[in-house]
Amino acid sequence: MPIPFIDLQAQRTRLGQPLEDAILKVVRSGAYIMGPEIGEFEKQLAAFGQAPFALSCGSGTEALVLPLMAWGIGPGDAVFCPSFTFAATAEAMPLVGASPVFVDIEPDTYNLDPQSLDAAIAQVKRDGKLTPRAVIAVDLFGQPADYPAIAEVARRHGLKLIADSAQGFGCTLDGRHPIHWADVATTSFFPAKPLGCYGDGGAVLSKDERLHDLLVSLRVHGQAVKSDIDGKTFEHDPKYLNVRIGMNSRMDTIQAAVLLQKLTIFADEIEARNRVADRYVQGLGDLVRTPRVIDGGVSVWAQYTIETPNRDGLAAALREQGVPSAVYYPIPIHKQGVYSVYPTAPGGLPVTEAKASQVISLPMHPYLTADDQDQVIAAVGAFVKTNR
Ligand SMILES: Cc1ncc(COP(=O)(O)O)c(C=O)c1O
Repeated sequence: MPIPFIDLQAQRTRLGQPLEDAILKVVRSGAYIMGPEIGEFEKQLAAFGQAPFALSCGSGTEALVLPLMAWGIGPGDAVFCPSFTFAATAEAMPLVGASPVFVDIEPDTYNLDPQSLDAAIAQVKRDGKLTPRAVIAVDLFGQPADYPAIAEVARRHGLKLIADSAQGFGCTLDGRHPIHWADVATTSFFPAKPLGCYGDGGAVLSKDERLHDLLVSLRVHGQAVKSDIDGKTFEHDPKYLNVRIGMNSRMDTIQAAVLLQKLTIFADEIEARNRVADRYVQGLGDLVRTPRVIDGGVSVWAQYTIETPNRDGLAAALREQGVPSAVYYPIPIHKQGVYSVYPTAPGGLPVTEAKASQVISLPMHPYLTADDQDQVIAAVGAFVKTNR
């Protein structure tokens, strides 16, 4: 049996009949859109992520677009984000007409470098062509960004802060979830994410009721929400009153039913992922550069990423031994054609560019057996020892 890179079937087997019953219940209920599971899931997700409010939506990409729309961010505005991330982080800005400004990362955690961020904001202010509006920090590979430092920079410049926790939902820093520092935290339920569903889905966690209300409206075509209709009378059902330009970003009820089941084991899975990560350090820590988690941080280990100068050689050697690997991300976003027109921090992004050519991710999931992991460790070890 080949070693799976991520084993969703082991998780499905563990969840068993209740998972299938939950899906069938939605199928039989007919409440396919905004059924009761949606509200229940949002309540439980908010509790898990220590947020006053949670809004489910169509994807992790739309979860980033919705708050930008709510804050009226658009043409002429700058939003600062890392370039060492999945394209969706940066894509959210052009989708609302705004410009991403790419910032470098810390060499040890791969997350946004607060000093590069500060310098990039100062440069954009000096240039005067764009108006700085927000920062998107990414919890890359599952570990929390340096929120205390990033939030200090964002606050000092009067900018909103989004935590793009698509890969990191469930991660903590000193026991606190990213929403403690950020104005909103977003996530993705793409199946391969640590908390994934059986299709597309996403969520926006927030702590301001007015903002949450706006997000509720934007998610369904700018429909009038409580604050729009309170104290007013209408000739027609205000349900069909559309008071702002929004979109359709509803998550399917079936996905909420799946996620409610997955939430029951999510904390346990995070612990299991951390046991797997600890074992990798024991087996590989002396041979290759293994990931460093920020002090006080707990990663959810969406990926387990090591570094080697001979990445292609290692990938080929692993493949021969039946060990899958993946490269996240071989081309930084600012180096991709359509994104190369946007500004970067002063001095460019040397750390991002160096890391992009060296990183390689190994199998990581909560159900990785000791035997399989030993095979991965032995295969990496053998390659490194003979290719020093
Ligand atoms: C960092 C990051 N942001 C945003 C997204 C977008 O999520 P989705 O695929 O659900 O739109 C992803 C996932 O693919 C991601 O990894």
